Amino acid sequence: MPLPDDEHWMLSYYRTSEINGSLFFGRLARTLKPGPIQHDLTRHFADEAQHAWYWTDCLDRLGTRPIKLSDAYQDQYLEAAGLPANMMEIMAITLVFERRVINQYARHLAVPGVRVEVKETIDLIMQDEKWHVQWVRDALAGMEDRFGKDTITETLSRYKEADREVYAHTLAEHEERLSFLLRSEHEE
Ligand SMILES: [Fe+2]
Ligand SMILES: [Fe+2]
Repeated sequence: MPLPDDEHWMLSYYRTSEINGSLFFGRLARTLKPGPIQHDLTRHFADEAQHAWYWTDCLDRLGTRPIKLSDAYQDQYLEAAGLPANMMEIMAITLVFERRVINQYARHLAVPGVRVEVKETIDLIMQDEKWHVQWVRDALAGMEDRFGKDTITETLSRYKEADREVYAHTLAEHEERLSFLLRSEHEE
């Protein structure tokens, strides 16, 4: 059975978002001075680049090619949340974003009849995503002395709010294409 159009689009969208993530963190990693964040962020952007490859390969195995898409999830993110002003804000928005990614991939895994190629790809990616959330959370905890615990908590809430908005907006914008994800939710 050929890959349905909506899922073809979705997997291509994931690929584009992984590319954007990699480019964003890669550019950031280039600006950092030596230290643990430079180290972890370099591994992080290399992982995201690898994830873009996994989706490309997955689509190939499904007998198709990625659709060329211009926008990705992250674009709307920065618009809604505002540009982060310092490293703490970058880590906070990253933590919220990485949680969203894990949540989205978990949702996709719950779609009835998910293809084995898709399941394998998400399983592979999820191993890295768990580490992403962990190192960013640790990095934020290490910034408490400098920025204050309350400020970090407030920043996280602000980005969580922006995240909810962007996600709702994305679902509405691509309602038809994403309906297979929503269907799976109703069936739960
Ligand atoms: Fe990723
Ligand atoms: Fe990630």
